[in-house]
Amino acid sequence: MNELAVEQVEDPTILNAHDAIVRVRLTTTCGSDLHLLGGYVPTMRAGDVLGHEFIGEIVETGSEVKNHRVGDRVVVCSFISCGKCWYCKNELYSLCDNSNPNAGIPEMLWGQAPGGCYGYSHALGGWAGSHAEYIRVPYADQGAFTVPDGVSDERALFASDAAPTGWMGADLGGVRPGDTVAVWGAGGVGQMAARAAILLGAERVIVIDRFQERLGQVEQVIGAETMNYETSEVLAELRETTGGRGPDVCIEAVGMEAHRDRPDFAYDQLKQQLRLQTDRPTAVREAIFAARKGGSVFVLGVFGGFVDKFPLGPLMNKGLTLRFAQQHGHRYIPMLLERMARDELATEHLATHVMPLDEAPAGYGMFKEKTDGCVRAVFRP
Ligand SMILES: NC(=O)c1ccc[n+]([C@@H]2O[C@H](COP(=O)([O-])OP(=O)(O)OC[C@H]3O[C@@H](n4cnc5c(N)ncnc54)[C@H](O)[C@@H]3O)[C@@H](O)[C@H]2O)c1
Ligand SMILES: [Zn+2]
Ligand SMILES: [Zn+2]
Repeated sequence: MNELAVEQVEDPTILNAHDAIVRVRLTTTCGSDLHLLGGYVPTMRAGDVLGHEFIGEIVETGSEVKNHRVGDRVVVCSFISCGKCWYCKNELYSLCDNSNPNAGIPEMLWGQAPGGCYGYSHALGGWAGSHAEYIRVPYADQGAFTVPDGVSDERALFASDAAPTGWMGADLGGVRPGDTVAVWGAGGVGQMAARAAILLGAERVIVIDRFQERLGQVEQVIGAETMNYETSEVLAELRETTGGRGPDVCIEAVGMEAHRDRPDFAYDQLKQQLRLQTDRPTAVREAIFAARKGGSVFVLGVFGGFVDKFPLGPLMNKGLTLRFAQQHGHRYIPMLLERMARDELATEHLATHVMPLDEAPAGYGMFKEKTDGCVRAVFRP
């Protein structure tokens, strides 16, 4: 747990006719990786390569790859989808039935297995990650997307995961023109959810966090309002600013390591440390309390197992819709790349610290502790 190093591994090779080998140009850290480092998401093994968000250049293709050629600049969806199974045909790409060779592990934990994800534990397939010079991309026609000329690497990189995840939260959370949307978490995912809500026509979008640098980005780049939870009464202020009703859509972009100086947080943290529960649902609870009657809560933050003190009563009696998902990026990535090309969606500000891959352990340290205003540490192999 928590041990990171840059080491020499074998170069990947084409194993299947649908594979491509991609030379990684940039790869970023993600809040999800912190859950791996903390040991909250289990089934990592010594020697596993981390990283699931990346942009690169195709250097080799299998004989069945039709849409890509050597030299294409591509961004690759973090979740792997075959494009042919029932789930992929129904656009539930992260639930692909064919991309997780270790389905037995999650079936034991969760009843059924989601699809695979690069560099994200053996429960999600044991695929080698993108914090490397080269990566094998299975189902390359399905998962790799050519980046339009004129969109920089630093911008397109976030079409891999943060941008489609945020878009999914706003889309499947049911944001409609005129809505008020509250987003918990001003990391890459929360910022992208807020921008998506604005582009989908929300009248007001309010992002909640405690890091002032991140909230500054939200105001200046994303164009949303902010609330610092350390100096605001979040529930009361959300009620007041919405005429007593509460936000129509609440999006949680925090996950299992939520923080809060409050008794419920201390309770969650103690139970999590004692392994009596797996996750800290602090922000999910607040989102459920904040949502207006009949509204919806979409949880983008990653959760792994079981919690208690979960507010079923408010969910039921306020008539709320609660949804979750790992990102179905294949639905959104082409549209997001077009918006990036039209300058409707800027993401490069998230890459606050770009460094050589050799410096990755230090980059992870900054990202984890959120020091020096780090929003995402990005590595150049
Ligand atoms: N669903 C998906 O497919 C998907 C994809 C990518 C990331 N994620 C998850 O999304 C979450 C966010 O990812 P990220 O990269 O933005 O992470 P991040 O660590 O950069 O950001 C999380 C932010 O949440 C804030 N926060 C903590 N407790 C809070 C609270 N009680 N209220 C409000 N804000 C709080 C932190 O200060 C931080 O700024 C993670 O759980 C990650 O695993 C999910
Ligand atoms: Zn991610
Ligand atoms: Zn599939």
